[in-house]
Amino acid sequence: MVTHITKAVIPAAGMGTRFLPATKAMPKEMLPVVDKPAIQYVVEEAVAAGLTDVLMITGRNKNALENHFDRVTELEAVLIQKGDRDRLAKVNESTDLADMHYVRQGDPLGLGHAVLRAKMHVGREPFAVLLGDDIIDARDPLLDKMLSEQITRNTSVVALLEVDPSQIHLYGAAAIEKTDDPDVVRITGLVEKPAAEDAPSNLAIIGRYVLRPEVFDVLEHTKPGKGNEIQLTDALQEMAVNPETTGGVYGVIFRGRRYDTGDRLDYIKAIIQLAVDRDDLGVELRPWLKEFTSTLE
Ligand code: UTP
Repeated sequence: MVTHITKAVIPAAGMGTRFLPATKAMPKEMLPVVDKPAIQYVVEEAVAAGLTDVLMITGRNKNALENHFDRVTELEAVLIQKGDRDRLAKVNESTDLADMHYVRQGDPLGLGHAVLRAKMHVGREPFAVLLGDDIIDARDPLLDKMLSEQITRNTSVVALLEVDPSQIHLYGAAAIEKTDDPDVVRITGLVEKPAAEDAPSNLAIIGRYVLRPEVFDVLEHTKPGKGNEIQLTDALQEMAVNPETTGGVYGVIFRGRRYDTGDRLDYIKAIIQLAVDRDDLGVELRPWLKEFTSTLE
């Protein structure tokens, strides 16, 4: 029995079409949220939960992602020469964060296809998946609970968020049964991006998963679904209805702050929400924001 999960897979190979032209030559995961690229928050979250072996699934324009987690000796030398220790520390923050590995997806055939690219690296052990454009606020930890549920129940675990029914068509939606724990449900079925009237609930899957390795066996034969992409949700649906062979799927309901930085409006909200609480920016930003909003009427 597994007592400790150490591997995280971070898919970051999507086309980011909602963010064009910013993402023409740069992955959307590199867009700065205040002063750090979105992907750094995600790797920091993985490491904070004890997941120190990180495999990133990259696509075209992968260089910026790899470079961000590597040393930049010229920049370090200049900052050392200037005696600028604070900025040097900022440069080095991402360098020693985790044991980073990279694999290319090739064609972006969907999230399920991206996760399948991790099969060789992960092997036959449970592992976490963190979407590279989805930020969970560090003050509202989620992964710890998901990892412990995976270990005690020995099932796959997904994160669920209650959304307004008018928004469910943007997500995978879960049909559920309650458990003794108000934050944990058993998933009986999943539908990718349903119309509001077809959604089994308003519980949406968000970008955190702790999966049993059987997901790879299922993804091997998962056919393209919505958007002609190989959908992770379709593989999880098969696992949810075949618990004897795949271990089944549970959901942890997340009630904290989460930012979808792949969406332009959510991205802007993320920057404002995170910046107002920062010691170095909040003091000046808060009064400015109040004054600015009073002009909006
Ligand atoms: P999204 O559907 O949000 O990414 O995938 P996208 O396709 O890049 O977005 P738009 O709609 O064109 O703007 C969710 C996550 O899955 C990854 C993305 O990088 C993102 O982190 N992904 C998606 C892959 O790694 N490969 C894929 O083929 C698709």
